[in-house]
Amino acid sequence: MELVLDGVRKVFGGVVAVADVSAVIPQDQVTALIGPNGAGKTTLFNAVTGFDPPDQGTITFGGRRINGLPPWRVAELGLIRTFQTPVGFTTLTVRESMLAAATPWFMETPRGAFGLGPGFGRKGRKLERDAEIRTGEIAAELGLEDLLDVRTDELSAGDRKLLEFARQLMAQPKMLLLDEPAAAVAPANIGRLSQLVRRLCDERGLGSLIIDHNLSFLMQIADEVHVLDQGVLIASGPPEAIAADPEVMRVYLGEQAAEGAGP
Ligand SMILES: Nc1ncnc2c1ncn2[C@@H]1O[C@H](COP(=O)(O)OP(=O)(O)OP(=O)(O)O)[C@@H](O)[C@H]1O
Ligand SMILES: [Mg+2]
Repeated sequence: MELVLDGVRKVFGGVVAVADVSAVIPQDQVTALIGPNGAGKTTLFNAVTGFDPPDQGTITFGGRRINGLPPWRVAELGLIRTFQTPVGFTTLTVRESMLAAATPWFMETPRGAFGLGPGFGRKGRKLERDAEIRTGEIAAELGLEDLLDVRTDELSAGDRKLLEFARQLMAQPKMLLLDEPAAAVAPANIGRLSQLVRRLCDERGLGSLIIDHNLSFLMQIADEVHVLDQGVLIASGPPEAIAADPEVMRVYLGEQAAEGAGP
């Protein structure tokens, strides 16, 4: 299965945020999407996940066209970005928060809007039981098993990040889409985050598409890197090739030089 972008374009007023981007993103590898501020990275994520559909082009996942689908349908197909239910860090316990994420997309469906669950009777009870089993398994996998009964607002920043991953995994993703996962993580915990993303990919075959400004973090874990600049995909390839690409250097050094020249 793969995520395929073909001529994806998004314009805001006069600004071409994403200019005819075509790329193939395999499901079972770690793919990085980098580029300076305003390059169009988040716009592309919004297009893929149905939050803000593209003006032109097609997006398919596993051969199935997904542009035009609402976010809950995209999530249901296994492209998991964030959760529709705003849970945040509250008086919910880790266990409760994870269970609430088991069917995040469902709340936005027409049935969900009428308060009808994903299943009643036997089917509903089976779904609940499955979710409870998955909660235990995923908590163990991420090292959260001793924290299941702890309130989420009492977690350390590092454990909150792990809980975010745990909640994404509860939704049974086929691919994770992470917009700046390292941004709020203390430098000391970035290694732990890298290991987790790498392990999910190597052991579970669960790949991810990651946007981040922390290039050393991405270069360590990515199998392939795509570089956007002003909406245009200027380079794609393995991290070593990208790091040695003069055009990529120019984009990044240009940005640094501009910052250095500021007041
Ligand atoms: N909803 C919007 N309305 C108008 N312009 C927008 C909108 N969203 C994004 N843009 C513009 O589109 C361009 C791409 O923005 P985008 O947020 O996708 O960049 P980005 O690569 O995610 O940047 P950053 O690294 O700062 O998060 C920018 O010029 C931005 O100002
Ligand atoms: Mg962004």
